Amino acid sequence: MSNPSEAELIHMFKGIPFTTRSSPELLKSLDTFDAREDDLLLVSYPKSGTHWLAGVITKLYNTQVTLTSPIEFGDLSKLEELNKLSSKRIIPTHLDYNMLPPNFKNKKCKMIYIIRNPKDTAVSMYHYYRDNPNLPTVDTWTAFFDLFLKGDVVCGSWFDHFLSWEEHENDKNILFLFYEEMKKDLPKTVKEIILFLGLNISDSDIQDICKKSSFSEMKSDTEKENSDPSHTVCALTSNRKLIFRKGTVGDWKNHFTPKQNRKFEEMFNEKMKLSKM
Ligand code: A3P
Repeated sequence: MSNPSEAELIHMFKGIPFTTRSSPELLKSLDTFDAREDDLLLVSYPKSGTHWLAGVITKLYNTQVTLTSPIEFGDLSKLEELNKLSSKRIIPTHLDYNMLPPNFKNKKCKMIYIIRNPKDTAVSMYHYYRDNPNLPTVDTWTAFFDLFLKGDVVCGSWFDHFLSWEEHENDKNILFLFYEEMKKDLPKTVKEIILFLGLNISDSDIQDICKKSSFSEMKSDTEKENSDPSHTVCALTSNRKLIFRKGTVGDWKNHFTPKQNRKFEEMFNEKMKLSKM
């Protein structure tokens, strides 16, 4: 059987490439979504550590919480499905700030945005594209690098995504976290999350949560998990090996040529000149 064509896998909505797993009807109706005050959003550009963050957060609650698949994944029935959930909803999303259902903003729902060095994000996404039949074929790293810089990948430009959220860095209901900081000192980040969420968790429980959230533990745990893609943070694959690939900082150095690095830095400096990050 031949691979599905790009048009079968990707469509554009408001100038951003989405996979066809996000139906245009669902994307159009997001504006009408009814948020609840206690909804928690986990926001990221793809491949920034969303599963890791979700793994940590779901371990923090001793009450019933439901981690859903991203709000933008599925068809119109998705909103109905979310409405039916009676427990606290933890909702991942890769939407940029402007596309987020306004109700989340009006109700000042808590949101956590995880950021990762875009060079490592690009490399992670490259491997994800390469090994995932639900995404267009990319033949080489060089070809993918150019697509990434142009923003011609799922969820669009890393820069636009990040900048749309960074504008809201002073909003009290949004917490910004860095993948690299989590790698360096996970307990410190977990304490920040706990404070932000107003939870009360002992130091020994924090240690335990961090241990259970290590790359190796999470990777082996997912093998036992429900692998139905519509019930996972990444609704694009049931192959957990694609998500828990390497989990390191600096893998970009194994992929970027010096010329690509210069090109990336130029673009980064230009696009991010007004950014404080
Ligand atoms: P790599 O491809 O560089 O290994 P997302 O969850 O947003 O799709 O991001 C996936 C990336 O997060 C992958 O990066 C994956 O390995 C990494 N990751 C997942 N769980 C992790 C963990 N517990 N610790 C560190 N990195 C993790």
